[in-house]
Amino acid sequence: MRKAVCPGSFDPVTNGHLDIIGRTSELFDEVVVAIGVNKAKASARLFSAEERIEMLEKACAPYGNVTVAGFDGLLTTFCEDNGIKAIVKGLRAVSDFDYELQMAQMNSSLVDVETVFIPTSPEWSFLASSLVKEVAMFGGDVSGLIPPDVHTQLTERLAERARADKE
Ligand code: PNS
Repeated sequence: MRKAVCPGSFDPVTNGHLDIIGRTSELFDEVVVAIGVNKAKASARLFSAEERIEMLEKACAPYGNVTVAGFDGLLTTFCEDNGIKAIVKGLRAVSDFDYELQMAQMNSSLVDVETVFIPTSPEWSFLASSLVKEVAMFGGDVSGLIPPDVHTQLTERLAERARADKE
């Protein structure tokens, strides 16, 4: 059984993430989408871990060999605990590479795990959850960039935040 993990913050999941997850599901027997904590992005988080898990479970339902899980600590501990030897990451542009290479080397120095990079499909290479949130916050149309259910939840959450900011 070849098992891989697609880790990320997924706040929220985008069509770019799903592109990588779908293609990973064709390369491996089992894929776990693992929602972790990126310390650098923690303050900008819009959705709870439970909400992100639920959104991903719906979005990944078409892939029979993909499951979704959350994790708190190190990705390498998650890999060890789940018998996973491959971490799959999407690369959008060369600007992603420096940081991803550093993480890949750190992770493989900690445990016996390889990182596999998949180039993001060109149609999604500009896409990032942080940009989706920013564009949506200022009223831009992001409906073609995220799954429909996620779009509904994003619109509702931003409206809630806007109401709370006014009070
Ligand atoms: O979607 P992101 O924000 O790029 O995902 C980054 C994530 C969550 C995969 C990364 O920050 C991570 O692996 N966090 C878990 C903590 C950890 O293992 N840190 C050491 C990385 S070398």
